[in-house]
Amino acid sequence: MGWLRALEGRFIVFDGPDGSGKSTQLARFVAACASAGVEVCEVREPGGTAIGERVRAILLDRHHEGMSLRCEMLLYMASRAQLVEERIRPALAAGRLVLADRFVSSTLAYQGTAGGLSLEDIHAVAGIATGGTMPDLTVVFDVDPQTIIQRTRGEDSRVVRGRGSVAGMKDLFSDRMEDKSADAEFRAKVRRGYLDQAAAQPDRYAVVDATKPPEEVWEQVVKTVRARLAPGA
Ligand code: TYD
Repeated sequence: MGWLRALEGRFIVFDGPDGSGKSTQLARFVAACASAGVEVCEVREPGGTAIGERVRAILLDRHHEGMSLRCEMLLYMASRAQLVEERIRPALAAGRLVLADRFVSSTLAYQGTAGGLSLEDIHAVAGIATGGTMPDLTVVFDVDPQTIIQRTRGEDSRVVRGRGSVAGMKDLFSDRMEDKSADAEFRAKVRRGYLDQAAAQPDRYAVVDATKPPEEVWEQVVKTVRARLAPGA
């Protein structure tokens, strides 16, 4: 995997619905980079900084049922602004590969397409929050709502093993955001949100079929990232 060196100084996001397996694949990608001697800055959203983790707690707190959609969107962006300034921009400047679990694409899918806020407004706020630091590639882990339901019920034991722990599956619907995502219609909209983004910006997005077994998904991820960001390496 020597081609991974070509990713130094690039910014890649892994995104998709809850239960898509993106975080497991991201961990594997980070490990592959470490083996290849590529320095990685790994971040997750919401959170990733001390301030961002406090914002995350506000966002996920079940007591905050009355939070308005605009407040929610701005909090995700506030956490993101801190993450970009404190971690992402310095890492890119130092020539490190930045790998992010979720980014602006999550806000567009969850608060935009699924929640109902205008995508234009979200793009405008994102411009302010990130100061224009945007990913070179966003890998969307596409999975149909039915498969996610099966996974969260633990019916598909192969996938449960793939995610690493059965306890992790139980936690999947355990916070305020995940209460929202448990709604079938909301989930279908989130999925459409990601696919619409990928269709609108095919040069900045890639979609992988995350219904496949983890090993096959991994092969797709490697092939896609290489083809897009290290074609000659
Ligand atoms: P997280 O707990 O990290 O879940 P996962 O492990 O599935 O990534 O994410 C918290 C929730 O926040 C998740 O349901 C998606 C949601 N979210 C948004 O709605 N908008 C956003 O901008 C981000 C970053 C996350």
